[in-house]
This record gives sequence, structure tokens and C-alpha cells, in this order.
Amino acid sequence: ILPLGVLVSGRGSNLEAIIKAIEEGRLPARINLVLSNKKDARALDIAFQYSIPAEFVDPKAYPDRESYDLALATRLKEAGVELVVLAGFMRILSPAFLEQFPLKVINIHPALLPAFPGVEAQRQAIEYGVKIAGCTVHFVDAGVDTGPIIAQAAVPVEDNDTPETLAKRILEQEHRLLPEVIRWIAEGRVTVKGRRVYVRRD
Ligand code: GAR
Repeated sequence: ILPLGVLVSGRGSNLEAIIKAIEEGRLPARINLVLSNKKDARALDIAFQYSIPAEFVDPKAYPDRESYDLALATRLKEAGVELVVLAGFMRILSPAFLEQFPLKVINIHPALLPAFPGVEAQRQAIEYGVKIAGCTVHFVDAGVDTGPIIAQAAVPVEDNDTPETLAKRILEQEHRLLPEVIRWIAEGRVTVKGRRVYVRRD
């Protein structure tokens, strides 16, 4: 049973997908702690609904990014977390944090990386005019959405798509892909060699 920490900033639909996968026996993990950098994140309500320990940690209460990130890392360590999942966490994590969890932090991003990193990825995809979009689960490194890619899922971009309709189509894939990747990691099937990630299938 892999002990997870989930970092969130908003709606929490990916958090909920992880919770459901655990409850339905599809994911050998437990969520030890949810941390949010936003006080009114709906993700916190979802955690409380499911009686999962959850906390708002206020960035304004810390003098700089490093000390905030170390506060997060300390809480996660104290909670016994072994894999940190960024599920709509809209902050960059500093090397100070990542050193505490080497290759133990994953992120879901709503684009087929390396295309469209950063914010409003779905809008970027529509404005660029791509015909295929999707989502990526990757290990987090010090860059913005640059870490080794574990898995991706693709969806078509339709002519009449808005950022919202495309985001909805991508989100369905996120909810499937993120719990699946966590399961692979929990089952010890994922190895990383440089940029390349290998998943042992059985
Ligand atoms: C998701 O689409 C996720 O991929 C994206 O934010 C949304 C969070 O939704 N993450 C990023 O853009 C990270 N740069 P949720 O709070 O309902 O899971």
C-alpha cells in the first residue's frame, strides 16, 4: 500500500479520481495527506468529505519559496508520504523540495508535452491549431513541465472546440490515466533511465 501525499490548488477532480480508484480496489495506495496552497480550493472539501487529512498551507506565511516548500516537504515526510502527486497544483516546486523526494513527485498536465507547458495548456493547443491534444503524467524535475514522461493519452481536437470543451474531453483521460500511473508505481513496475521511463507490463 503506497502512502500518497496529494498537492492541490483548485477543483480537485483528479484528487477525487484517485480516491475513487482506491475505494474501488483499483489502486493499492492510501492518501495520507492533502495539502493546498489555496484556502478555498474545492479539493479541500473533497478531502474532508472522505475523511482524508487535509490542510491549507498559506504561502504568505513564509518569507520565500524555499521555506514554504520545505514546510510542505516536512508535513509530507511527517505523514509518511512516499509518493507526492501534483493534482492541479499550480505552483512550481523548488529544488529544495524535490531533493527531499527524488523521483518521488509526479504531475498531471493537460497537454501532450513537450507541447504547451505552463498555464492554460488547452487554450494554447486550440490557438496553435493542433488536431490532437491530451494529457501527460510525468516525474517532476526543476523545470516547468519538463520531467521524464511516464504516460500520455490523446484526444481529438474538434473544429468547434473551446478551451472549456477541450479541457472536459482531456479531463476524462486525466481521471483514467493518473490513478493508473500511480498503480504502476505502487506495483514497482516503473523504472527511470535518464529521460526515458520504462513500465513493466504483465
Ligand atoms: C487539470 O486539468 C490538471 O491537468 C491541470 O489543472 C487541472 C486541475 O483540475 N494542471 C495543470 O495545468 C498543471 N500545470 P482538478 O483540480 O479538477 O484536478
